[in-house]
Amino acid sequence: MTQTTESSQWIEAGLEEDFPQGLGICIQHNDLQIAVFNYNGEEWYATQNLCPHDDQMVLSRGLTGAASGEPKIVCPLHKRAFALRSGEFLGEGEMSCLTTYPVKREGGKVYLQV
Ligand code: FES
Repeated sequence: MTQTTESSQWIEAGLEEDFPQGLGICIQHNDLQIAVFNYNGEEWYATQNLCPHDDQMVLSRGLTGAASGEPKIVCPLHKRAFALRSGEFLGEGEMSCLTTYPVKREGGKVYLQV
């Protein structure tokens, strides 16, 4: 469902209405799986869909929430949490950060910078 725009770095992810508030949707772009989150209707985030804990493509099916006011995503498999803004692992111990992608909305459509 992706298209390139006149700017080669932004891709169209879909219509805003296709992204339910509070949930994630997985977008495929070439070899990338990107989890796009309509966090609260105003704040949108995008991260890699791959959870680095066990290399599973599951983060788009995780639960969104907040940790000390910081938007987060919690993996549905083993409940590891990551900051949606920075991709930082929010638990104890070592864990790779998530790659994050800028999101913009224009004309009712959602775009990701990849
Ligand atoms: S695969 Fe995500 S926490 Fe284990």
